[in-house]
Amino acid sequence: MNLEQFRSNVYSKELEILSSNNVLDRLRRVCSTRDGLQTFAIQFYPIRYSFVQLAFAVGSRAPMHESYWYGLAKNLYEEGGEENKTAHNELYRKFISSIGLDPNMEVPETILSRSFNKTWFDFVLRAPIEQAIAAIAVYEIIDSPDYSALYEALREHSSLDLKFFEVHSVAEHFSMFNSFFSKYLSKEGNSLEDFVPVADFVLNHQDFMWKELLSSIEQN
Ligand SMILES: [Fe+2]
Repeated sequence: MNLEQFRSNVYSKELEILSSNNVLDRLRRVCSTRDGLQTFAIQFYPIRYSFVQLAFAVGSRAPMHESYWYGLAKNLYEEGGEENKTAHNELYRKFISSIGLDPNMEVPETILSRSFNKTWFDFVLRAPIEQAIAAIAVYEIIDSPDYSALYEALREHSSLDLKFFEVHSVAEHFSMFNSFFSKYLSKEGNSLEDFVPVADFVLNHQDFMWKELLSSIEQN
């Protein structure tokens, strides 16, 4: 298995998760009302928000060799808006402002976000560092299918500021970890198969997130 096959396996599995949970139709239905949109935006906020802290948590454990932290640093640079783009947090604030929520509201914690984030943090703080970095890299692969579904579900509302979703639906951040994977693979006996359980962890946890997120916003 090469890196492209690894990436495309994860990508296809996430597409299956989205389809088996009927994510697109259910999101469309919930978000067809202003109330539903606001509920989604509030519930999703703390789930996406923790990514920066996760990347720093992994970075704080990374060995000094640049291949371990370059992908994380580049990701964070992009999250922060690079030289002249808008920071991703700011893009989300613009989105919630466009649906009538206070952009300066405190990021709400929910039962789902507590559980979702705790599982992620437990994993990246306890797993061997290579697995923790690979988990972040895998998380990057599923940005594109996930945010494409979100963007698709929301785009019929022409008054919304959806730049946040648009940017992430075309994100290709996995390649930022190329040097990490090539250094790992240069060691005798190492292979990408070593990271299949990591990919399974990320995918299963994302499946859990979609199930819980959808059922909680549908109940609202
Ligand atoms: Fe982002």
